[in-house]
Parts: sequence; structure tokens; C-alpha cells
Amino acid sequence: MNRREFVSRSLTVAGLAAVSGSEWFAGPLQAAVLKSPKYVSANGMLNATLTAKQSWVTLAGRRAYLYNYNGWVPGPVLVVNPGDTIQLRLNNNLAEDTNLHYHGFHVSSSGAADNIFLTIPSGQNFTYSFGIPAWHRPGLFWYHPHCHGLVAEQVSMGLAAPIIVRGAMDLIPEIAAAREEILVLQDWDLDANGYVIQPSPMERMQGREGALITVSGSLRPTLFIQQDGLLRLRVLNACASRYFLLNIQKHTMYLIATDGGPIPTPVAYDKLLVLPGQRIDVLVKGNLGTGSYALQALPYNRGGMMGGDTSTQTLAEVTYQGRSAQIWNIPSQVGSVSPLPTPSMRRSFTLGQGRMMSFLINGRTFDPNRIDTAVSLCGVEDWDYINQTSMDHPMHLHVNPFQVIGPNGQPELAWRDTVNVPGGGRVRFRVQFADFVGKTVQHCHILDHEDMGMMGTVNMA
Ligand code: C2O
Ligand code: CU
Ligand code: CU
Repeated sequence: MNRREFVSRSLTVAGLAAVSGSEWFAGPLQAAVLKSPKYVSANGMLNATLTAKQSWVTLAGRRAYLYNYNGWVPGPVLVVNPGDTIQLRLNNNLAEDTNLHYHGFHVSSSGAADNIFLTIPSGQNFTYSFGIPAWHRPGLFWYHPHCHGLVAEQVSMGLAAPIIVRGAMDLIPEIAAAREEILVLQDWDLDANGYVIQPSPMERMQGREGALITVSGSLRPTLFIQQDGLLRLRVLNACASRYFLLNIQKHTMYLIATDGGPIPTPVAYDKLLVLPGQRIDVLVKGNLGTGSYALQALPYNRGGMMGGDTSTQTLAEVTYQGRSAQIWNIPSQVGSVSPLPTPSMRRSFTLGQGRMMSFLINGRTFDPNRIDTAVSLCGVEDWDYINQTSMDHPMHLHVNPFQVIGPNGQPELAWRDTVNVPGGGRVRFRVQFADFVGKTVQHCHILDHEDMGMMGTVNMA
């Protein structure tokens, strides 16, 4: 037995000794990997202030001069319930414009809500104020700045944080008993002194990636799992461009939720692709009992001249510690998703690359004052994306989640807000424009591409 096995076996034995009868024994309590504070709503209201600034923070155990909210990278976690009101004051202490977007939220995109057309100039503040519908689905969402031209820079320098919408899925006994970790994946290009290195034009064309990958601000953290217990990993890919093809050595990941909430029945995967902007919620069964297993990113080539980082990276270690007093299994049902009805409209969008470092939707770069797509409230539509470039584009739509149409022509029973359109390939999704009128956007979530024009307006009326 090697040292690591010995250590974890001793821990297991120590854990067992403390079990009395059928009592739940959680083992010595370990802090979660994500250390950012949680701002939790009370009496239907989340009232908080975020100050965006650049300062020295601790990242991966060293000092780095990053953009941050209230001194935290990732920023403070917002925890809300459906039906709550959010009142969030943003102080812009950066030297440039910024604003906030609530990625994946089904809320209004007008006024002081999820309105990315607002700009908060340097030195000013703004209070976002909006309601979350009582029928909003639970899940992991996130906030980040959305000023066209500055998004890749600001997100990749640290401005990103999770939002948790609580709901019925969290009360399913197996899920409630699982050890929960929120994994915010970020990548950084830092020099020896902790300053961010700005990307070259080539790197921006490809979509910037950083060699340093952090998981909720830490370098290769340990995620503890109990023998016979469940580990719930809620993963957010907050990188500007990097794709993650996730795998856990010798363990199956049971997908229980996608971007927009729970799926009907857990689905077992050996690997799961998580695009920039996307979230996945998976359960891992502690059926081995001892040892440490890498949560890793497997090679994935996203096309283009450089392909992105195609090496294998260890992101975290899943390590056994202690034993659950009860054997937990994967629940058989998590949520319910009904297929969207037959669409009344079909549209197609070609994804292209222009001259002078521009990226195009239907031949055009972003213009906030132009209406590119006018949709009617309550309408169901099928959208086709045709990728004429050699590089993958993770396309994202605000406000309304969609169902991806599978190879069989049927909608996938899962709510997503970001979908991969492979280089030279195509994809279709079905969406219903429900509840909110107003102007919003769709765009590539390789944020350099968005900043270089791959974004279009959508007006819901
Ligand atoms: Cu996460 Cu329009 O973005
Ligand atoms: Cu978004
Ligand atoms: Cu793109």
C-alpha cells in the first residue's frame, strides 16, 4: 500500500470508529473549496452591494493583481429563491465602463433588470432591481460584466461569480445528503509578479486561454467524498474561451441538471463537455472507498489555427475520507421537462469570420441599435446555426432557455442556454419567448468573439 492509500485508509478507519448505530456520520468536516461569501436572500429580498475594482487578491496560493467584486475571485455567491426580488448596487471602481449580466436568468432584460445595454461608467454606481418569477427553475447561474468590447478582458481578469437559485431538486433526499461543491473553472495568463498578461491578436482570434487553471480560486483542490456517500459537483465554466471535457478517474458522473435546471432522470457519463458559460450539476457515487482520483480535463480540439489547449489537465483530486452511515444511490427522478410544442417559425444564423479581426452572425458584426431578430412573445421557434468557420462557437441566448434538437429530430429534455456549434457543423434548438418583452442578445460565449462582433440583438414583443 502506498502512502496515499495508507493515509486515506487510516482516515476511513477513524471515521468508522465514530459511527454509532445508524446515525449519519459526516466524518471530520472539511470546508468547501469555494471560499467566497454567500449573500443569501431573506424575506423575499436580496439586498447587496458589489464593488468592482482591481486589487491584489490571493489566487492559487499566490498574489495576483486582478479585477474582483468586493475583493473576491470568484465574486460573492448570490443565493436566492424563485419569487425573490434582487436589489444589487454595483459600484464601478474600475478605470473603465462595466455593467452586470445575470447569465441564464429568466428575468426581464429591460430597465434596471438584466439589461446589458446599460453602461455604468468608471466612478459611478447603479442599482439593479428586478423580480425573479415564482416559476423560475432552480439551478446554478452566474453574473459577469457585459460591456461590448470589454467582456473578455473583464471576465478573464476575474469578474465572475455564481448565483444559486434554490428549489425542489435540492430537497430530494439523495441530493440533500450529498456533499456539495461549487466548482468555478477559470483560467489565467499571469506573469511572475502576478500581473495579467494581455493576449496577442492571434490569441484573441482563437479566444484567449490561460495556462493557469483554478477551481473556485484554488489550484488542484481536494474534493472529499465518503465511501457509500454522494458528491454533488456544480460546475461553472467561467473561462473566456476554454472548453472542458471533464472526466473523473474510475468514476461515473450522473448528470442531474444542465444550464437551466434539473433534467428528468439522471444520465451516466464518463466524460462531459462544459462550454464557456455553461453549467453542469453531477452526482458522483463513492463506491470505491479509498484513494484519490483526478477530476481532469481531457484533450478537446475546438478548431481554428491553434485548437485551444489540447493537453490533459488535472483540475482537482476526488479523495475518499470517512464513510457514510447509509449507502446512497443516485435518485431515479430529479425534475420534469416537457418538450416544447411544434414551432411556428424557423430562422437560420450563419456564423462567419470577417476581415480586420471580426466575427459575424449572418454577415454582420454587433450593432446595439439594430434589431437583428424580432420575435413574438409566447412564440415557439426553431433556430439553426450554420458554422462557416473552422472553429467551434458556443452560442448563447439570454433570457429564455432552449431545448437542443437531437439527431432524431426531437428536442432534448434539458434546458440549456449555451450550445456548441462545431467548426463547419450545424446545430438546431427550439425556444419559446415567454413572459418578458424587450431587447436582449444572443452571442458566441468565446468572449473575444463576442467582443469582435459575434453578437446580435433579439427583440421580444
Ligand atoms: Cu454569459 Cu451574454 O453572457
Ligand atoms: Cu448570458
Ligand atoms: Cu466564437
